[in-house]
Amino acid sequence: MTQSFDVLVIGSGIAGLSFALDVARRGRSVAILTKKDKADSSTNWAQGGLAAVTATTDDFAAHVHDTLAAGDGLCDPKVVRAIVRDGPACVRELAEWGVRFSRDPRGGYELGREGGHGARRILHAKDMTGRVIEEALLKAIAREPRIALFEHYFAIDVITRRKLSRRVPRGGDRVLGVHALDVRDGRVLTFRAPVVMLATGGAGQVYLYTTNPDIATGDGVAMAWRAGVEVRNMEFIQFHPTALYSTTGRRFLISEALRGEGAVLRNLQGEAFMRGVHPLADLAPRDIVARAIDAEMKKSGAAHVWLDITHRNAAWLRRRFPQIFAACRAAGLNLAHDLIPVVPAAHYVCGGVATTIAAETSLPGLYACGEVACTGLHGANRLASNSLLEAVVMARRGAESVDRYLRTATRTPLIAIPGWEDLGGGDTDERVVIAHNWDELRRTMWDYVGIMRTTKRLERARQRITNLARETQDYYWNFSVDARLLELRNVIEVAGLIVNCALQRKESRGLHAISDHPRKLRMVRDSRLRRT
Ligand code: FAD
Ligand code: SIN
Repeated sequence: MTQSFDVLVIGSGIAGLSFALDVARRGRSVAILTKKDKADSSTNWAQGGLAAVTATTDDFAAHVHDTLAAGDGLCDPKVVRAIVRDGPACVRELAEWGVRFSRDPRGGYELGREGGHGARRILHAKDMTGRVIEEALLKAIAREPRIALFEHYFAIDVITRRKLSRRVPRGGDRVLGVHALDVRDGRVLTFRAPVVMLATGGAGQVYLYTTNPDIATGDGVAMAWRAGVEVRNMEFIQFHPTALYSTTGRRFLISEALRGEGAVLRNLQGEAFMRGVHPLADLAPRDIVARAIDAEMKKSGAAHVWLDITHRNAAWLRRRFPQIFAACRAAGLNLAHDLIPVVPAAHYVCGGVATTIAAETSLPGLYACGEVACTGLHGANRLASNSLLEAVVMARRGAESVDRYLRTATRTPLIAIPGWEDLGGGDTDERVVIAHNWDELRRTMWDYVGIMRTTKRLERARQRITNLARETQDYYWNFSVDARLLELRNVIEVAGLIVNCALQRKESRGLHAISDHPRKLRMVRDSRLRRT
């Protein structure tokens, strides 16, 4: 069965939903495909907030400066200026769609502060910013008749002219649609459209310990890569310094906004160790804080460090951080009295599908925005709360450029797209191997491609990933596909891209710290990969 639309959006987080609203407003028919429930996204879990210049005491130059400093020399300054400048207009648009950020007693925005920011500029909804954004955008989507939302549809791959006929030269390639698995009944359907927007989010699930939800399996990066699109700077994986330590392996985020309100990191001897590390101490950029925690833990053999916000009383903490207060309570901890055990965990992919500042990829008709994309904003380390900002700004810019593309692109004759060929079945007992391969991949990435790297460990990881890729490809061809197998294929693809970019970079910069190359090179360059 084939369905046709002007635009397909893959993903229902802030990037996909706000793009869909903007493009539908321009009269386009839109389908959003999302692989689980519609609110299942990293967006829904975002805590700290969205960075934008809204205070009269703040200015664009200061936000640009902080973003460039956090990015450690690798940001594209033109992109940084453009995204920061678009911030306030996008905040107004979010408000029009019903997003309500926390206000101070005088009616202005209550602004938070986070690592690397020289000023209070984080708009937030207590510590549930993402949930408030996701709910408002989903309500706005439900009111828009031009948008159809397909839950539990897993986009497998982008269909392009070149995939259908190898005679099409790379320069003549363009998007025709996607194949998607209806997760509930196992059928693979064809969705046809001249434009596909990848808004599939991040890839934290590549690592054993992550703050990310289960959906974060890097599907968009893997799809773009398989379609021959350039992927950039994948070695820059951000480890959030403060996830709640638990022996179950879950890593609930303890927002950096706590340190913005004076929380202090302490080692097991009670020393506030960030003071000697960076002038901003506990509010240093994330790469620096995560590395300092890692070093403290290695030095003492401790399983965690402490976060201390006991200078605030329970009533204040419950009002400002209700979700975190409750999560700590459930773990038997009282934020107002107890030190909180925290550890770093994989949090954000700074690299991704290479795009222009108009969200275009190198393949006509394929666009990307949000965490899946690499615009040049984050460089070697993302500044806190710049992710939600980038997602909403790039969604808006993407809608403008998609509209232009649809008005001007030459119409291709309707090419027949063959249906999905299910090679069928496979031995169900063998499916347990898929679970084992998941575990092996995530453990390998955590052990060999973590906060501190060496060339030897990266090479070991590459070897294992190559074996896992070969084995998984075999399953892909011989089994009926299901979501878990498709995700495994994607996380393996993304892990390979992370390791290959890491091996390309012969220096330590931002989030990529490698002991064989401890210094920064004078020549600054992006790592770029493209499938030949
Ligand atoms: P997501 O919100 O992750 O949405 C991706 C969507 O794509 C999902 O709907 C998913 O189901 C769908 N999808 C994926 N693959 C497929 C597929 N193959 N087929 C169909 N659908 C698919 N950033 C900030 O700026 N401020 C914060 O305070 C902040 N806090 C955070 C807290 C946590 C715990 C986490 C995990 C992240 C946080 N971040 C924060 C990062 C930020 O939340 C994300 O980078 C951002 O929400 C990504 O938005 P997105 O729309 O790109 O992707
Ligand atoms: C946090 O609240 O600490 C997360 C913010 C972010 O990822 O930008």
